[in-house]
Amino acid sequence: METLFIGKNLLFLTEVESTNTYAMDMLRNVNAIEGTVVYTNNQTKGRGQRGALWSSENASNITASVVLKPQFLSIEKSFYLSKISALALYDVLAEILPGSQYDIKIKWPNDILVNKRKISGVLIENIFQQHNIQYSVIGIGFNVNQTEFGELKNVATSFKRITTKEINRQLVLEKLCMYLEKWYLILKANRFEEINNCYQQHLFGFNEMILFKKPDNSILKGVVLGVAESGKLRVYDALSEKEVQFDLKEVGFILEDQA
Ligand code: BTN
Repeated sequence: METLFIGKNLLFLTEVESTNTYAMDMLRNVNAIEGTVVYTNNQTKGRGQRGALWSSENASNITASVVLKPQFLSIEKSFYLSKISALALYDVLAEILPGSQYDIKIKWPNDILVNKRKISGVLIENIFQQHNIQYSVIGIGFNVNQTEFGELKNVATSFKRITTKEINRQLVLEKLCMYLEKWYLILKANRFEEINNCYQQHLFGFNEMILFKKPDNSILKGVVLGVAESGKLRVYDALSEKEVQFDLKEVGFILEDQA
């Protein structure tokens, strides 16, 4: 691994409930050095955002959790961990999927879409200490060689589904560690503007009229303006002609091409 610390301590488990749960337990009970990566071939209780399950075909994808100790980061700035995780995944994809036929976007907060289908998701869990973050576990699910998605076939994709080629998962994991370390060091150096600019530049719906779905199933037409420091999504609502902000559970995206 050609990194300074992320992935230097690599822990492979044939099967585990969830690499995030495992990494969080390690931090609570025995500790783990910063940059430790726990990864597995099979999660029996993989967790997604908002209490959802994350299912992933055995030995086909990346299901990994990275232990970070961003004690320099205040709680108010915790969304930067979402941003840098999405940017690292974006960079990996931009490297392994070169060419203009692939439309790679970050779907707020930190999903990656390729041609409007989800290829990866991130679940971040933090342990706080007073006003700062003590430990953070960045859980990454990245669809690599899986080609069958069952009922998710219109919304999910993978590297192999897009290119018809298999790719070595270890190689993808190495690139992921490399780019995550790159962005983490940028964050540590307080280069917030650089992070914000890159994140915004790749954000799905940025400066574009798109459709959103609200929890009551009503549709909102609007333009993504960016993300507030709090992590809320800033949207220009075309109907009220005003800016509105949404929290995670308050809005979803309608990706038209997925029917
Ligand atoms: C989402 O998009 O809902 C987030 C998915 C995160 C899945 C990864 S797989 C590795 C890690 N362990 C888990 O239980 N979840 C994350």
